[in-house]
Amino acid sequence: MQTTLSPPAPVENASAALPALGTVRLTVNGTAKTLQIAPWTTLLDALREYLNLTGTKKGCDHGQCGACTVLINGKRINSCLTLAVMHDDHEITSIEGLANADGSLHPLQTAFVDHDAFQCGYCTPGQICSAVGLMNEGQAKSEADVRELMSGNICRCGAYPHIVDAVTEVMGIEKQA
Ligand code: FES
Ligand code: FES
Repeated sequence: MQTTLSPPAPVENASAALPALGTVRLTVNGTAKTLQIAPWTTLLDALREYLNLTGTKKGCDHGQCGACTVLINGKRINSCLTLAVMHDDHEITSIEGLANADGSLHPLQTAFVDHDAFQCGYCTPGQICSAVGLMNEGQAKSEADVRELMSGNICRCGAYPHIVDAVTEVMGIEKQA
């Protein structure tokens, strides 16, 4: 038996079919922000496009590179894979919020500079935020652990050896011979 499919009925008022903008309250780097955004806005786009915090980078936009890593209540997350509306009243920290109030750098930022742990720098904000999350997790006990637990952060310049040097130094982990 043949089934005949009919085209969908035309939407008479397309704008009426769109969900209304929603109010989202985010605390970003210690400052409360209220945004009126579409419910499908990712946290990454909310940071970059609505709050002008462009330190967080968009690499793949599909959860595969780690360039968009930020911290939510101290835990690292790929901000391209989560919607801003899911983080009402959460504490979000991006790379712009890691330095101390007096302007001095976070120890990981200093270590990345000291170890020359970047080339183009595109992955660096995500690498550093991810390393802060790694330290908060308290799981990494060895250089191999650092490599494994940072493996979600891709560096197309291949700066991995220096990134590992920087992270292990700050964590007080001895380098393997
Ligand atoms: S931009 Fe989010 S993981 Fe690549
Ligand atoms: S420093 Fe260029 S992608 Fe990592």
